[in-house]
Amino acid sequence: MSDTSSSVRTAYLVAIVGGVLFFVLSVGLLGVWPARVIDAQTRAMAPEHPLPRTAAEQRGRVIYGREGCASCHTQQIRYLHQDMARFGAPTLAWETHLDTPHLWGTRRVGPDLSRIGGTRSLDWQYTHLFAPRSVVTGSVMPAYPSLFDGAPDRPRQEARDLVAYLDSLGRARELAAPEGEARARDACNCPDDEMAQMAFAGTMNTHPARARRTDEAPRLPAGTLPRGQQLYAAHCATCHGERGLGDGPGAAGLLPKPANLAEHEYAEERVAAALWNGVSGTAMPAWRDLAPEDLASISTAVQNLSVAQGDPPVPEHLTTLGARVFTANCVQCHGERGDGRGPAAESLLMAPKNFVRQRVSLAEGVRVLRSGVAGSPMAPWTARLTDAELVAVAHYVRELYAPAPQGDIRR
Ligand code: HEC
Ligand code: HEC
Ligand code: HEC
Repeated sequence: MSDTSSSVRTAYLVAIVGGVLFFVLSVGLLGVWPARVIDAQTRAMAPEHPLPRTAAEQRGRVIYGREGCASCHTQQIRYLHQDMARFGAPTLAWETHLDTPHLWGTRRVGPDLSRIGGTRSLDWQYTHLFAPRSVVTGSVMPAYPSLFDGAPDRPRQEARDLVAYLDSLGRARELAAPEGEARARDACNCPDDEMAQMAFAGTMNTHPARARRTDEAPRLPAGTLPRGQQLYAAHCATCHGERGLGDGPGAAGLLPKPANLAEHEYAEERVAAALWNGVSGTAMPAWRDLAPEDLASISTAVQNLSVAQGDPPVPEHLTTLGARVFTANCVQCHGERGDGRGPAAESLLMAPKNFVRQRVSLAEGVRVLRSGVAGSPMAPWTARLTDAELVAVAHYVRELYAPAPQGDIRR
């Protein structure tokens, strides 16, 4: 009997000692050691004075947690080529080390948000929160109308705070670059650490919707109209409206309003550039996640929306007056040749329109000159110009249109 009881006792002892050892080992391996590695990495790579969140951003963070955004959105770009291609450089530990509790999330029903700051315009964010499907066809994201006073352009303080928070995501890392990246790379001193090299490689933010203030665009292959119309209905009609009048369901809360595509003629290269880069300073996203053939098809569909403008000959005196008005008032932004490259253009978030590549209808041009474009640096001119001068200069900018022949685009 004493034989069995002593072997039972030994078994208990082994189990207890083994259990405690296992526990200590797991805490050490899975808790203490990674924490130390990450602490060391954070100390080595974080900027000396990372910008703290403002009070509004801090409140927005709490709302983000409360509304369960993290159950559908991650805030962590992983060390995977798919993640890096879509969102940019992988998240470093220091980027979120001031967040307690962290909101990394575990499920990606919607896209990763760690670099969403500066990617979407604020009016887009409000419209999207108010009613996601008014801007993104078929979105499964829930609407948050309780954060608004009944309309997307009437956000309550909570919506403002939440959007302020969203717009802060990725900012710390972006502000640290490129000097910060170089400093972090030096501090890391890890040429053989594959993951660290991935974290520093490539572009900070490659979000396909991020708008860029440039005219560059890839040369598009030939597109087909039916495919383009299908894609237009799926992606563009929410804002620009089914017939391109700028009156889609998403348009209500946006400033500037989506362009009235029917009232414009566009050179092929202009549509390609608008699709590839978005329109900086507006809710118009870039569409870099669409295939080049699809972009080409959409471009064909956009050009097809234009209501062709019969061009009555413009009397000589009107042209002379228009040219004079243009030189006196418009060149600093729109440029001598009307190509949108005036001396003041560079400093504007929103590019002055390039009249060489797009021709606005006379009626729409006069309307813009009378009322300006709300939400843009283009002011109304009624206080400075007479009605005759307005009409003359609206005629004049139309005459600057000189698209490259189709298929012969030099960029
Ligand atoms: C049920 C899942 C779900 C929840 C909850 C959710 N979203 Fe989304 N979200 C999505 C999906 C799906 C998309 C992609 C389609 C779209 O843009 O609407 C998306 C898109 C977004 C985008 C645009 C991302 C991009 O890359 O362009 C933002 C910003 C966003 N959500 C913020 C939020 C915020 C803030 C909350 C909480 C108030 C939230 N989401 C809650 C599913 C969700
Ligand atoms: C979220 C709303 C929204 C969506 C979706 C959208 N656009 Fe836009 N679009 C805008 C806004 C806002 C502008 C800027 C108008 C301005 O500069 O005054 C714009 C500008 C443009 C321009 C430049 C027009 C000009 O006169 O300079 C083109 C071309 C265009 N969009 C085409 C498209 C196409 C094609 C799609 C679909 C692939 C699309 N847009 C999707 C809101 C949107
Ligand atoms: C402060 C800079 C600035 C000045 C000065 C200026 N514009 Fe503009 N203009 C802009 C910007 C920026 C836009 C584009 C707004 C947008 O994206 O919707 C624009 C848009 C326009 C459009 C709309 C074009 C289209 O395709 O829809 C017309 C027409 C126009 N300007 C004519 C003029 C004329 C004529 C003058 C001189 C009387 C003038 N602008 C002076 C900045 C300026």
